[in-house]
Order: sequence, then C-alpha cells, then structure tokens
Amino acid sequence: MERKIKMSPSILSANFNNLLADVKATEEAGAEYLHIDVMDGIFVPNISFGKIVPQTLRKHSNQVFDVHLMIVDPMRYIDDFAKAGADIITIHHEACHDRIKVLEYIRSLGIKPCISIKPDTNPAVLEQYLPYVDMVLIMSVQPGFGGQKFIPSAIESCKVARELIKKSGRDIDIEVDGGLYTYNVNLVTEAGANVIVAGSSIFGAEDIGGAVVEMTKRAEETFIW
Ligand code: DX5
Ligand code: ZN
Repeated sequence: MERKIKMSPSILSANFNNLLADVKATEEAGAEYLHIDVMDGIFVPNISFGKIVPQTLRKHSNQVFDVHLMIVDPMRYIDDFAKAGADIITIHHEACHDRIKVLEYIRSLGIKPCISIKPDTNPAVLEQYLPYVDMVLIMSVQPGFGGQKFIPSAIESCKVARELIKKSGRDIDIEVDGGLYTYNVNLVTEAGANVIVAGSSIFGAEDIGGAVVEMTKRAEETFIW
C-alpha cells in the first residue's frame, strides 16, 4: 500500500478578509486537503463557523474538504456538511454515544468517515472504529483554538494507531492536528502520521505557498510507515 503525505491547511488561522486568496495559495502550492474546523461552543469553548464556509469555498477549490466537527451530537449536522461539499467528515470519540452509527451514516453518503481523539484519550480506543473509518485524527493540542503548543502525547498515539492499522490490514490514514510546524512535523511523520494539519504555520507565514511547500518536503523526507 502506497502511503502519501497530504497537507491539510486549517482555515481557522486564515485571513477571513482574504479567505479565498489564502485558500487558493495553499491549493496552488500543492496542499491536497483543506482542513475546516467547526466548533459549537459546547464540545469546545470556542465557536468557529458553520456550513456556509465550505459551501462558499466549494465552488472555488478542488481540494479534499476535510471537515473536523468539534461539536456534540454530530449526527444533526452530517447532512448539512455533506451538501456543503465535505469529502471527509471527522467526529470525536468524546463527543457523542452513537459514534459507529454516525460513521456508518457518513459512509452511506459517499463521504470518508474519520474518528478523532483528544490528546489525553487512550489511543487503544481507536481499534473499535477501524472497520468503519478511512482516517483517524490524533489531536496534538486541546481542541478549540489555533496557535497552541504541540502536546507530545500525540507521538505515542500515532505509533499505537500505526500498529493497530497495520494489524487491521485496512488502508487508513493517520492525521495529526495542532501545533505543527516545519521544525517539528518530523515528530509525527516518524511515528506514522501522513495527513498533516497546519493552521498558524501556514496561514501565519508571509509566503503561504512557500510554507506549504517547505512543510510538505520536510514531512515527506521524514515519513516512516
Ligand atoms: C484546533 C483545530 C486545529 C487548529 C490547528 O482545535 O482543530 O485544526 O486550527 O491550528 P494550529 O496549526 O495553529 O495549531
Ligand atoms: Zn482541526
């Protein structure tokens, strides 16, 4: 199975006065994914935005829309984000009870399901989801805000996820989200992560495209499966 590095710039840190141009800069620099953080003020202490953002961007970008739902009871909003153009929908292990039902529902709509764990959640919980997902998302900051410091527990979680995925024989990506920069991305790629979320390090850079290229290169050079 060939595993590729994919960059997923998080628009949470983009300049919303100039959102479309910021997004296009990442696409032109080769970022295959676009990370779209949806926060409800309940599961996390912050509110971001709803379906209007992906729906608006969808007409202008061919990137894989990687929608990260940090919301309680995500089932209520799956249809909305499906219609808004999501290609991947992530829900949280900690956010609801009927997780497998939600993941199956996401798949029934032709969208790739993903499960996420927070930094303090035991990665062993991921095993139960592997038959139902195409990606696991390991948080390397407490979800809720961009610009936080990388939490190293994500490294061990990636290694555990990699072993579980190998054992399952399924083709499942490992995504990591939070506090990643060119200088530390190797910590997670060396542990098996191949989908890299980056907000501040990309949209906070003067040259957004250059930041994508540089970080992709470093991730590719250091990726170990
Ligand atoms: C945090 C979000 C992240 C965030 C990452 O809850 O899920 O996607 O935007 O931002 P950085 O890369 O700045 O840590
Ligand atoms: Zn995210």
